[in-house]
Amino acid sequence: MRLDQFVSQSTGIPRSEVPKFIRGGQVLVNGARITKTSTHIDPTAEVLLHGERIVLPGNIYLMLHKPAGVVSATEDAEHRTVLELIEHPHRHTLHVVGRLDKDTTGLLLLTNDGDWSHRISAPKHHVPKTYLATLAWELTEAGAQALRAGVQLNGEKGLTKPAEVEILPEQQARITISEGKYHQVKRMFAAIGNRVEALHRERVGQWVLDPQLGAGEWKLLNLD
Ligand code: URA
Repeated sequence: MRLDQFVSQSTGIPRSEVPKFIRGGQVLVNGARITKTSTHIDPTAEVLLHGERIVLPGNIYLMLHKPAGVVSATEDAEHRTVLELIEHPHRHTLHVVGRLDKDTTGLLLLTNDGDWSHRISAPKHHVPKTYLATLAWELTEAGAQALRAGVQLNGEKGLTKPAEVEILPEQQARITISEGKYHQVKRMFAAIGNRVEALHRERVGQWVLDPQLGAGEWKLLNLD
């Protein structure tokens, strides 16, 4: 791979800023000073920047217990992002797998493996996602049936796909959907005349939010 790409991916330094370090002679590859940014190197080579070894991140998979009030983005001019919660040397390589609204809490997956995130979030894969919704009014059996069968969302063609719905005490409901339309859960409850007051994601596919993780905490996932 190109040396400038290697330095950028290993350190998070934007690609546009990397040339000044390479041309300035601050990068050594297997002991040799390389000053041409486009030089191709073996990704397993020993690369030093300012005398310190830098390495490619490898694949990272993690789950975060997203708190309310942070946005599911890696950059945002106005709000705190979920990435700011991840203390990891290669956090700059991560992206979010399926966003949550700013006020939604619960399971958020992050990775730097684009194939993995695509398999989870691409609509055609229909990966189920389970949410605990706290509602303004008790969910009736008729309302639950309507959600199970599919409802018409404002501005969408056709009904939502069949959902699993469980009525819980204290104006709560558990709902599992296999689509990911914008604000889908809130809009589904709105379509039956209810309102979501709080929303918490419990599960995405095989991944269940670890109950040991407090809001704002995260852990690496082992995919083996
Ligand atoms: N549906 C919503 O309405 N909001 C979310 O954050 C996730 C699903």
